[in-house]
Amino acid sequence: MPETKACESKTDTIEDHHGHVERVLASTPDLLLDNGADLIAATVPATSSRVVAATEDTTSGRHRLLGELAGRIPFPVIVVNDSPIKLKFENEHGIGRAVVDGFLRATNSLIAAKTFAVVGFGSCGRSLARTLRALGASVIVVERDPVRALEAAFEGMRVTSIDRAVELADALITVTGRPDALTADLMTSLRDGAVLANVGHFSTEIDVAGIERVAVSRREIRGDVTEFVLENGRTVYLLARGEMLNLAAANGHQIQIMDLGFAHQAHSMRARARSGCLHPRLQPRAAGDRPRSRRGRSGHAIDRRAEQLVPGPRKFHRKRPPTG
Ligand SMILES: NC(=O)c1ccc[n+]([C@@H]2O[C@H](COP(=O)([O-])OP(=O)(O)OC[C@H]3O[C@@H](n4cnc5c(N)ncnc54)[C@H](O)[C@@H]3O)[C@@H](O)[C@H]2O)c1
Repeated sequence: MPETKACESKTDTIEDHHGHVERVLASTPDLLLDNGADLIAATVPATSSRVVAATEDTTSGRHRLLGELAGRIPFPVIVVNDSPIKLKFENEHGIGRAVVDGFLRATNSLIAAKTFAVVGFGSCGRSLARTLRALGASVIVVERDPVRALEAAFEGMRVTSIDRAVELADALITVTGRPDALTADLMTSLRDGAVLANVGHFSTEIDVAGIERVAVSRREIRGDVTEFVLENGRTVYLLARGEMLNLAAANGHQIQIMDLGFAHQAHSMRARARSGCLHPRLQPRAAGDRPRSRRGRSGHAIDRRAEQLVPGPRKFHRKRPPTG
């Protein structure tokens, strides 16, 4: 198989990124490991593609597969994002710590005693909200799904509208997977010195172009901090240009978290390569694929004996009545 190197870097433009995608596909791969569905989307117009299966890692890629690409992908796609391994471990455990790492590196500022608004209380947003609160922040949640909003309230978070959140928060972080979670019309309500950041896959969750339009000045004050002065004289700070904060300003997820996701993708690809029997549709994991090793690298053993126990009727042993 020909080797193709296409290394993405933090300073890449969108054109660079599309160039990398084209170079990877020019090597005529059989299997794709995707994150955001750009590779998968680029194969759709091609009639001569050799691709037999793909994996998709993230929620935003999943939205594209179910939206603009629905019914147009001729090969099976393992949507790793929907597997418990991804949702429980990367999103619910990894995100919070990784994003806080990005926030601290970008701002060198305290988390404790600040009010953070987390916009979106999905698997990533709740991880972030919980981590911020554990570090002493007061956390507001903005969530448009009523059940998820209620979940946040039951966890003791203050749940409110975006209009109210911008008035209250020292820092607002979007993690919705949807564009325009924070729009330019809200800028005038922000507190002086408010910090804005995004964790969602695409840098469209904060309307950065809109902020540039309503701002009277803009300057880079640190590597990942852009200062905007607004017409009302208030200053707001945008972190990492509205790109994913944990990746743009820090190192992304912890290595063990990435190991889990990549192992899942490798298992999926192996299932396809060995048996070829994946269904031609979206699925969260290859059938029969489950953690097999009794003791993974984390050192935690999985109890196999319990799996073999067949639940049967309970026996109650009556105490024999005393004789004599
Ligand atoms: N930075 C990273 O390393 C990383 C890792 C995993 C996922 N992601 C990305 O994070 C984003 C969120 O992922 P997720 O799995 O938590 O998604 P999710 O769909 O589980 O949760 C998103 C939540 O946001 C809510 N929402 C959507 N638009 C909203 C709005 N305008 N206002 C308020 N709430 C809104 C939805 O109702 C939903 O509950 C996606 O873009 C995903 O690709 C990033």
